[in-house]
Amino acid sequence: MKILVVGSGGREHAIVRALARTWSDKEQLELLCAPGNPGIEADARCIPEVGGEDVPALVELAQREAVDLVVVGPEVPLVDGLVDELAAVGIKAFGPSRAAAQLEGSKIFCKEVLVASGVPTAGYKVLRSREEALAAAAETNYPAVFKSDGLAAGKGVIICADEAEAKAAIDEYFTEQRFGETDVILEEFLEGVEVSLLAICDGERAYSLVPARDFKRIFDNDQGPNTGGMGAFSPVPELPVSEIEAISAQVHQPIIDEMKRRGAAFHGILYAGLMLTADGVRVLEYNTRFGDPETQALLPRLTSDLAELMLASIEPGGLAGHDITFSEQRSVTLTLASAGYPEGSSKGDVIKGLDEVSTAIEVTHAGTARNADGAIVTAGGRVLNVTALSDSVPRAREAAYAGAALIDFDGKQQRSDIAAGIEL
Ligand code: AMP
Ligand code: GLY
Repeated sequence: MKILVVGSGGREHAIVRALARTWSDKEQLELLCAPGNPGIEADARCIPEVGGEDVPALVELAQREAVDLVVVGPEVPLVDGLVDELAAVGIKAFGPSRAAAQLEGSKIFCKEVLVASGVPTAGYKVLRSREEALAAAAETNYPAVFKSDGLAAGKGVIICADEAEAKAAIDEYFTEQRFGETDVILEEFLEGVEVSLLAICDGERAYSLVPARDFKRIFDNDQGPNTGGMGAFSPVPELPVSEIEAISAQVHQPIIDEMKRRGAAFHGILYAGLMLTADGVRVLEYNTRFGDPETQALLPRLTSDLAELMLASIEPGGLAGHDITFSEQRSVTLTLASAGYPEGSSKGDVIKGLDEVSTAIEVTHAGTARNADGAIVTAGGRVLNVTALSDSVPRAREAAYAGAALIDFDGKQQRSDIAAGIEL
């Protein structure tokens, strides 16, 4: 079995590791990753010259290598139709089609599907021009949430405390076009506990994974700008195992049914970003892929064969009868970020101490490279993830922080409150 993983971040490193760790077949497993990174190199054959968003080059690589399965990590190639292009040349791929990935690619489309399928979500209005937006800002309640319609790498959401902030946000969307030429959604502000609940889907049914929480802001106590994610843990006390099935029936299955009805059956990971409010669960957004860094916290707990599940999800109804099981272990994942993140990132800072971390701790590479001397250096905003498992969240947390303390580079940024105070 030959599997090509597409992407170059901590999520893809965690996928590569989990594929190898859970592989249960007698046949040999060969793992490739395009483009990969210096950490993934230890676990898979990396193809650095093929970019993770270059659809034609990825299809050509998959054909040349005659891979049995392509696993698409990030959203951009999904929205660009990589799974469709691979299917057209007879190559199986894990992930949704271009049409199904619109659930993540367009927030307006996502809201239409949410409403059509009766899934609880925040009330909203579509704003197609600066004038419409200004009129809506004068009428709405505050705080109010603005979201750009298209993909924005997690940065297209602006929460405004009052009309003055809303006007500034409207300038960013419509005048400066910080997120390109885009329509905007104005959405009701929801309060509650955020949880990421991912499901693996086979076009017919959604099978929930265990819940995780991620930490989006750069600084402790959820201060500062949003990032790609500064840490995660799993499971989550507010969503006990006994309630997962009922919540998934509310937030995943109706979407699968609606997408099938629309002729865009959903295969792959449906990631529901949830707010548990005093009035019940609400969906904030869907992603159509594994979360980053939730995956680094989730997959080390998986005890079923990941490759087998991914292959089964490609067939309509193919997951029926497959066990999807997780260990009771708790996991905590920390992100180590480079200087200047999230506005920018520092490249080329030498990373020390990687060899000192115990192999019981999972260090996945997110933004790393090798310099001319062969040393591992920073090469992006989020540089590394450090994940520890234990029988309690506090113990996993302690182990993850102890591991992260051994790693150092100039300007290293890390939150000190990931999973703090979680007794589970
Ligand atoms: P999204 O990309 O839609 O998940 O939004 C990014 C972050 O903005 C979420 O993780 C929430 O913390 C916050 N957010 C999004 N929508 C809302 C909302 N309607 N009410 C409150 N916070 C929100
Ligand atoms: N952790 C949030 C995301 O992957 O979009």
